[in-house]
Amino acid sequence: MTDSVPLLEARDIAKSYGAVQALRSADLVVEPGEVHALLGANGAGKSTLVKVLTGVISPDRGTFAINGNPVRIGSPAQAARNGLAPVFQDPALVPDLTIAQNMRLTGASPAAVERELRALDLAVDFSEQARDVPLPMLRMIDLARALARDPQLLLLDEITAALPSDLAERVFTVMRASRERGRSVLFITHRLKEVIASCDRATILRDGGAVATIVPEEGGEETIVEYMLGPEAAQAVVAAVDKDAGDVRATPAATGVTPALEVIDLSMGRVRGVSFSLRPGEILGVAALEGQGQDDLFAVLSGQQSPASGEVRAGGKMLKARHPYDAIRAGVVLVPADRLQALLPQRSVRENIAAPRYNSVRRWGPINVRDEGRRVREAEEALQIDTRAARQVRRLSGGNQQKVTIARWLANGFATMLCFDPTRGIDVGTKRQIYALLRRLADDGAAILFFSSELAEFPLVCDRVLALFGGEVTAELAGAAADEASLLRAMHGLAAEAEAVA
Ligand SMILES: Nc1ncnc2c1ncn2[C@@H]1O[C@H](COP(=O)(O)OP(=O)(O)OP(=O)(O)O)[C@@H](O)[C@H]1O
Ligand SMILES: [Mg+2]
Repeated sequence: MTDSVPLLEARDIAKSYGAVQALRSADLVVEPGEVHALLGANGAGKSTLVKVLTGVISPDRGTFAINGNPVRIGSPAQAARNGLAPVFQDPALVPDLTIAQNMRLTGASPAAVERELRALDLAVDFSEQARDVPLPMLRMIDLARALARDPQLLLLDEITAALPSDLAERVFTVMRASRERGRSVLFITHRLKEVIASCDRATILRDGGAVATIVPEEGGEETIVEYMLGPEAAQAVVAAVDKDAGDVRATPAATGVTPALEVIDLSMGRVRGVSFSLRPGEILGVAALEGQGQDDLFAVLSGQQSPASGEVRAGGKMLKARHPYDAIRAGVVLVPADRLQALLPQRSVRENIAAPRYNSVRRWGPINVRDEGRRVREAEEALQIDTRAARQVRRLSGGNQQKVTIARWLANGFATMLCFDPTRGIDVGTKRQIYALLRRLADDGAAILFFSSELAEFPLVCDRVLALFGGEVTAELAGAAADEASLLRAMHGLAAEAEAVA
């Protein structure tokens, strides 16, 4: 492979935003027919490099060659002509337009995109408005649009972060098929298992520079983490993993405590007759494949939708939320899947965390401090938010935006936190901190409902896990027993077997 002419050779790429040096001097070489991972902690410069390579932003410095020929990548059109097609970190679809209109807007042929979707075994209604399409499906549409161009190099910026395992599998199939046809993929992810399983080589960025290119299978996760975080921080992560492994949690005793959240025979959209109870101090997982009702369940509990039937109680009181404010007033807050939905992108990190809109809301729960500045600082520190670009949240890296969606509730207080994929796009070091943070909140009396598309998180985070299949709860597993195989069986509705394991 190394004898061939590289498909892409990018050298000495630099890009600054004012005082923030997003890329210092990054090199990247992608061979034909390889799946190449681009790795790095939150804010390392991965998305910036993707945007430079695809002509969305122009670098301050750097050279590019495609198939050995020097090229300029001055615009997205030029990048496309060079055979580069990106899927960006956030959905690139205008919410108020239909899918078909979105396709035409970006010069994609709806028919070609539809063909790619069919090849992915997905049916999408092109007359639907983008805002009504669930996030995972938007990501698959972005993928199909990129594939429709039959690119030499497909650049995937954290596409699997928002995908449940069944859809993520289809992305891996696409990557394998590309390799077989001599095409290449640049694949960004924070899930290191995906890198080991699916990538031929990996380039690791730290603080805007490439620190190494390795063969993941040989180095393993530890090597990657060490390059990503530096040797000392990596040690801390490895130590934390070892500790987690020995830390089997018992479900807290059920007796005598008013549940923080009680769901009784709830139906709405895909949710059919779901009942469960969540106690203060408990982290309850919800595991599901794509489209099993998890979206509707979180939408009802957070007051975005009204239930068709059934009941929700918060802290023992009936919760009839017609608006998210109603839920927030009852102490039930949401960390949503789509961070852009939760944030005021043009506003500062501080304004987003302090979220003045909620100032009239009674302070809840374990964290209850008066001074706004201190609350914001503490939340920033608890989540180690990179505030170099703090004046506008939209300028933060994706992972740091995600941290802000959690930080605001630390600063404002709550009784029950509904976390929908809270570590989506968060790097391996910070993930550990978030797991620890959720546990600390629970130990202080918070109740947490936790959906994740990353199955490995359930045994690390949850006391109990419910499997949702076809809108119904089909199994309940103890957190410690929620290994990947048991979860997958339960999530496919094979409840009897799952129960036998649990
Ligand atoms: N428009 C902008 N203005 C100011 N700073 C920016 C802008 N875009 C990115 N940055 C900064 O550049 C740095 C690198 O960001 P980038 O989005 O490339 O990180 P990343 O490696 O993709 O991280 P993540 O894993 O969180 O997605 C960050 O510090 C970010 O805040
Ligand atoms: Mg990014």
